[in-house]
Amino acid sequence: MFWYHGVTKHSYASVREHPNRLSWEDQPSVFKQYPETYTRYRFDLEDDEERFLYHIAGINAKKSYPSVEYYLRMNPSAGALYPNEIYLQIRGVAGKPNGIYHYDVAASAVTLLVQLAGDEGLEPYLGCREQMQGYLFLVSSVYWRSAWKYKNRAFRYCLLDAGHILGAIEAAALLKPHAAVVRYDIDRVILNRMFGFEGREWFTAAASVAVPVRGSSVTAVEFALPYVDASRTFEPNETIERAYRQSCTLEGCRQMLKPPRFSYLPEKLQETIFQRRSQRAFEPEAITKGQFSYLMEVLSQPVLSDCDEEVRVYVVVNRVLDMPLGLYRDGEYIKYGDFHHKAGYLCLEQYNLAAQGALAVFLTAPEGNYQALYQKAGIIGHRLYIAAQYLGLGCSGIGAYYDDEVNTFLDDDGMVLYALAVGK
Ligand SMILES: Cc1cc2nc3c(=O)[nH]c(=O)nc-3n(C[C@H](O)[C@H](O)[C@H](O)COP(=O)(O)O)c2cc1C
Repeated sequence: MFWYHGVTKHSYASVREHPNRLSWEDQPSVFKQYPETYTRYRFDLEDDEERFLYHIAGINAKKSYPSVEYYLRMNPSAGALYPNEIYLQIRGVAGKPNGIYHYDVAASAVTLLVQLAGDEGLEPYLGCREQMQGYLFLVSSVYWRSAWKYKNRAFRYCLLDAGHILGAIEAAALLKPHAAVVRYDIDRVILNRMFGFEGREWFTAAASVAVPVRGSSVTAVEFALPYVDASRTFEPNETIERAYRQSCTLEGCRQMLKPPRFSYLPEKLQETIFQRRSQRAFEPEAITKGQFSYLMEVLSQPVLSDCDEEVRVYVVVNRVLDMPLGLYRDGEYIKYGDFHHKAGYLCLEQYNLAAQGALAVFLTAPEGNYQALYQKAGIIGHRLYIAAQYLGLGCSGIGAYYDDEVNTFLDDDGMVLYALAVGK
C-alpha cells in the first residue's frame, strides 16, 4: 500500500482524537483568475463549442446564506472546496486562436495564456507525436484549498475531485463526435515549471477530446508563465507534497483502448449534466431492478486511458425491488443480509447517505499507480452521479469512511478509495 494512503486512514478513534477545527480567516479562495491584461473569451451558450466547455465545470447553482454565497458547479467536490484548476490547449476550433488557455470558472470564460505558432503545441508533453485537433485538457490541484479543511487526507480529495473533472470532460464529450481519452503519463515536472505554479499547484492528469492530424509534426512549445495566486492563503503540507512527488513517476502502465458504451439520449444527457447535484438525504423507497442493472452496466464500462488500473466496485444493496439485501460484486452476492446500518456507520456515521440510500458503493484498488487509480475512482464516481441523475435518482460522493473497517466488511485488503450512495 502506498505509504500516504496508510497514514491518512480515518478510524473511529482518529476522527475523535483529531477533530477538524477550521480557521475561517485562512479560508482559501476557490477561484483562480489571471490578470485583466490577458484576453478572455466568455462562454456564449448558444455556441456548441463553448457550451461543451461550460458543461465541464461551469457554475450551475448558487446557495445563499445570510453572510455568504456559495457557487456550485457541474462537477462535484468534497466539501465544495474545488481544489482543481483546468487548463486547455485549443487547436483548430473556429473562433479561438490556437493556444493554451486557463478555464476561468468565476468569469465563465477561457483566458488565453499562450498563443501557439505553427507546429508548436503541448502534445509532446502528453505523449502525442502528432498535432491534435480539438482540445487537450490539463487538470491541476491547488492542494491548500482542500488541505485547509481536510489536512493530510486532502491529496485523496484532490485526486477524486480531479477524477470527477475528467468524468465531466468525458460526459460533455459524449455530446460531441470524439470520445475523451485520459492521459496520466504527462511530463509533470516540465509542465508545472512552465505554468509557473511554484509548488503550490501541480498537474495530476490530462485528457484529450481531439483527433490526430495524420502526417503532421509537432514541436514542444516552451514558455514561462508568471506565478498567479490561486488560493489567497497558503500553508505548505510536507506529507501531501511528498505524496505527490512520489506518485508522479508511473510504472507498468497498460493502455485501455476499449471504449466505454453508454446509452444516453443526447438531449436528456445535456439536461442531466446541467442539473447534476449531490443528494443530501434519500427517501426510504426502493429503486427498481431495471435501474439497478442500468447503474451496474455503467459502472462496469472501461475507462479509456494510457494507464489503466484495477478499481473494484462493491455495492451494498439496501433497497432494490425483487432483490435480496446484501453485498454484491461483479454480478454476484458475496454475502446476504441487511447491511444498511453498517454502511452508514462505515461512512463516518453519515446515515443520511449510505444507510438511507438504496445502494451504497465502495471502490477499492490493490497496488498500482496512485494518481492514476485514485483519479479513475473519481471518474467512476462521476459516471455513477450522471447515470443516477439521468434515471431521476440521486447520488452523493462520500470521501470520509473508516478505512480499515471498510476493508474488514468487504473482506478486501486493498486501498479503499471512495464511497458513494444512490437512491430516491
Ligand atoms: C470526492 C467527494 C467526496 C464527498 N464526500 C462527501 C461526504 O463525505 N459527505 C457529504 O455529505 N457529501 C460529500 N460530497 C458531496 C459534496 O459535498 C458536494 O459535491 C458539494 O457540496 C457540491 O455540491 P454539488 O455536488 O451538489 O454540486 C463529496 C463529493 C465528492 C466529489
